[in-house]
Amino acid sequence: MDCDNFLQWRSEYSVGIPEIDKQHQEIMALITDLLKLCREDNNDGKQQSFINLVLIITEHFQRHFEAEEKLMLEKNYPHYENHKKRHDQLLENIKKMTEKIINGKQQMSLLNIVIFLREWFVENIYGLDKDLGDYLNKNR
Ligand SMILES: [Fe+2]
Repeated sequence: MDCDNFLQWRSEYSVGIPEIDKQHQEIMALITDLLKLCREDNNDGKQQSFINLVLIITEHFQRHFEAEEKLMLEKNYPHYENHKKRHDQLLENIKKMTEKIINGKQQMSLLNIVIFLREWFVENIYGLDKDLGDYLNKNR
């Protein structure tokens, strides 16, 4: 898998709200870092570095979701509940995955965790964030 093309920003990812796009770009860069880390040949301390980076990514997700949820509430976004539910589900999933890695009970490989994060993220942009962006642009 090519690290540089794994999750590179493309204009079609834009949701039309610069603040949200910027946060998405930061998260994409971090997920790409996670892929690079998991592809390193040196295994010393890899798991711990992986966990540390996942924790940083989780914090970014948390802050980003809070920012999106704040915008949704301010603008009376009609699909707030559904969108927030998706955010909460992801955070819960990441926390469970991280705990399993720490306890040595994670069945998924590190690479598959990175792929899961990428799939979730891209799907979320197309499935939910673009709708939100359209709404926010129409209701300034
Ligand atoms: Fe988002």
